[in-house]
Amino acid sequence: MSIKLTWHGHAAFELNINGSCILVDPFLSGNPTASASPDTIAADYILVTHGHGDHIGDTVAIAQRTNGLVISNFEVCNWLQAQGVSRVHPQHIGGGFQHPFGYLKLTIAHHGSSLPDGTCGGNPCGLLLTAEGKKIYLAGDTGLFYSMRLIGEEGIDLAALPIGDNFTMGPDDALRAVKLIAPQVVIPIHYDTFDAIQQDPQAWAKRVQAETLAKPLVLQPGESYSL
Ligand code: NI
Ligand code: MN
Repeated sequence: MSIKLTWHGHAAFELNINGSCILVDPFLSGNPTASASPDTIAADYILVTHGHGDHIGDTVAIAQRTNGLVISNFEVCNWLQAQGVSRVHPQHIGGGFQHPFGYLKLTIAHHGSSLPDGTCGGNPCGLLLTAEGKKIYLAGDTGLFYSMRLIGEEGIDLAALPIGDNFTMGPDDALRAVKLIAPQVVIPIHYDTFDAIQQDPQAWAKRVQAETLAKPLVLQPGESYSL
């Protein structure tokens, strides 16, 4: 049994775990790098790290079409219910829950979380998922923080970290994050989508390879990796 992870550009992922399809931050329409359509993509679950438009993305439309369960923080879940999303599971930072696909814990992330209409979306989160004997850390939008070391203590098989700079960690801090987390594999995300976050992921990958034990993995939108 394995986990198949597909990057759909920016911070959007699709995880296929034991027959379930789990979307993360499905920003597809309006995303020039998106590799899937919100009109056809499958979703048994949708995980949302925070309220910003480039993360909540097409969550409302996909949830209404698929009837997938949306998991996010309490404030974002309340807002989604007000938009007509009926199936939500609110969690919050530090709290984990055993879902059918795995144990999902929300972590801190240093960022904002206002929703597209200006509603306060609570505090932004990262996602720490334990499934199929693997541990995956999707950092969400965040600056560098030293407690990433605590997350790393759990033994991270795969981490996805923003490298775009401007709104999140840039390449230098993301490299420091890799050193704190010490994941087996690290995927750079949240770059090139907008003018302000243009980066060279291959150059970053070379630095990761030279300075850490982690294996950098630069995916193209639509590309998958199994672990
Ligand atoms: Ni954001
Ligand atoms: Mn973002």
